[in-house]
Order: sequence, then C-alpha cells, then structure tokens
Amino acid sequence: MHTELFEAGHALDHIRLARAADVIAIAPATADFLSRAAAGRADDLLTACLLATKAPVFMAPAMNDRMWEHPQTGRNVAQLREIGYHLLDPDTGDLAVGEGSGPGRLPEPEVLMAHIGRLLEAQADLTNRHVLVTAGPTREAVDPVRFLSNRSSGKMGVALAAAAWRRGARVTLVCGPLSVPHPVGATIVPVESVQEMHDAVRRALPSADVLVMAAAPADFRPATLASEKIKKSTAPDAIALTPTTDILQATVGDRGRDTVIVGFALETEDVLANAQRKLEGKGLDLIVVNDAREDGAGFGVDTNRVTILQRRGAAEALPLLSKDDVADAILDRVVGLLR
Ligand code: CTP
Repeated sequence: MHTELFEAGHALDHIRLARAADVIAIAPATADFLSRAAAGRADDLLTACLLATKAPVFMAPAMNDRMWEHPQTGRNVAQLREIGYHLLDPDTGDLAVGEGSGPGRLPEPEVLMAHIGRLLEAQADLTNRHVLVTAGPTREAVDPVRFLSNRSSGKMGVALAAAAWRRGARVTLVCGPLSVPHPVGATIVPVESVQEMHDAVRRALPSADVLVMAAAPADFRPATLASEKIKKSTAPDAIALTPTTDILQATVGDRGRDTVIVGFALETEDVLANAQRKLEGKGLDLIVVNDAREDGAGFGVDTNRVTILQRRGAAEALPLLSKDDVADAILDRVVGLLR
C-alpha cells in the first residue's frame, strides 16, 4: 500500500507506480478529486501518478447530487473526458443518510469491474462498430393475462452483447424477458412480442455493422387476441395459431451491403443440412448451430457446444465451452468478416 508522495526512501514511487499500472481506477472519485485532477495538480501520490502514467484511466464519480449537478463539476468532468479518461456517470438512487434520492451514487462493484475489464481488454477489435444483438424468448399474448413463450433464458445473447462491448463495440441489445441480468454497457431495448422485436431490429439495423440474432422468437402466435381474460367456463377446445414474421427473412432488404448477419439454429435432426438451408434461406453470413440432443448445449445452461457454418469454408465444430467463450469464438469470426 502506498499513501504518500514522498515516503522515506521511496522518492520516485509515483513514477514507478504510474509505469507499472495496466489501468488506473479511481472509485469513488470525489468532487474534490475531480477538480484537482482537472487542474493537473500533482501534490499527492494519486494526482502525481495520473500525470506520470500512460495507462488508461477510469474514474467513477460519486458525491452528493447537488455537487454532481454543479456546473463546475460538469466542467471538470468534460475536461477529464476530453483528456481521454473514462468517466462513468454515477447511478441515481438513495444518497447518504437524510440526503434523499438523486444522481451521485457509486455504481455496483460488478459494473465497475466490467468497465475496468473493458479497459484491460487486449482485443479491442470491435472499436467504432455498432453491434446489434437480440436475445431471449418472446411472449405472444393469448389474452390480457396469458401468453405463449419458450424456454430461452437469453444467456447466449447476453454473453454475446457483453463480449462485443468488452471488445470495444457500441452494443444495442433487443431482448425479450430475460432470466439473467442485463449486460453492462449495452443499450437495452426491452420487447415482448415478435412484432415488437421486429420493429426494434428494423429501427436499429441501419446503423449496425453486425446483427446477431441470438433470440428465440416464437414461430407462432395465437390467431386472435382475446380482449378480456378467457373464463374457465367459456374456454375454447383449442387455440388457433398463425405464423409470426421471420425477422431475419423480413430484414433481408433493409440490410447495409457490408452488414454482417449472424443467425442461430437449434436442431434435433439433420443438424448440418438444416443449418445450411437456414444459412442460405435467411441470407446469413454465418450460422451458429446447436444440437439440442447434446448435453451441455441449448437453453438455460452456462455452456454450449456449437458448430459454426459460414458461406464460404468448412463447418467448424467447437468443443464444449462456456457461453462466454462461445461468444468470443463467434465474434472472432465476425471480426474476420468485417475486414
Ligand atoms: N428467427 C427470426 N424470426 C423468427 C424466428 C427465428 O429471425 N420469427 C431467427 C432466430 O433468431 C435464429 C434463426 O432465425 O437466428 C433460426 O431460428 P430457428 O428457430 O432455428 O429456425 P426457424 O426458421 O424457426 O426454423 P424451424 O422452426 O423450421 O427449425
């Protein structure tokens, strides 16, 4: 631990520390610290390290909401961002005892760690790219209280969104109701039905460099939507179904020439032949195939065993991997296609 600029016998600690650091993270960063860093002071160990380092710098401001909203703090924050430091906006919520609620809270440790991890990421190969990911199931309403859905947890799509963000991308995640927490860094667009997911994809697609359709949109919805809750006494014998829009198929015409399109396929028979048909039929550049009969693959689990098919090239069967590693393997191929 180092606390002093000039400790006995260690006159150049700030230079040594600044050189050794892979990243410098200041959390919480107080209003006073922001102002001293913005002024370029070097009269304590931390500010001296900042001036002496070439490492990326991360700051998580946390303070009373009025101090955060003061124009002087705003100017300091803008100046520090202009230097190239990464400053997170504080969370809004309950502040110190008796101070009510407002912007100024330190974000949760997982959020801070995700941002620090991104700065440490060696593969920033998606910087300046916009990656659009869909995840999770959809819900197709039967009546105001009931719906048809499926067992998708959203884990694979969330892992993809997190990995793309970590590798430098701006990420939009269009998601049905997920069973896992939202990933840090992505802009979240929550949807329920296939229709809503289709609309959200269509809105975001024009600015996207990559679309990854990891969601499991329903293939069918009830043909009619009951406006009132269906009573037990008048329950129908059957619910008539009608096909939903295939989002990938419906967006073929809206895609930019260079947009890389990734689809998924969950198959139980003729796995590779069916996937190849979807790759061509849905106009994909790459398809990630799950064999639902394999242990450790598919819905709800943390691992996946996939085969990747591309338009050109042989099928690549990957070993059983964590969904995070599968996400990186998919993005490695996407980066190759973007070049
Ligand atoms: N997909 C889509 N819109 C739908 C259904 C699926 O865009 N309404 C996408 C999925 O997100 C996935 C790909 O299409 O990336 C393949 O999904 P899958 O359910 O395996 O294929 P289907 O076209 O539904 O074919 P089938 O039911 O015959 O297997």
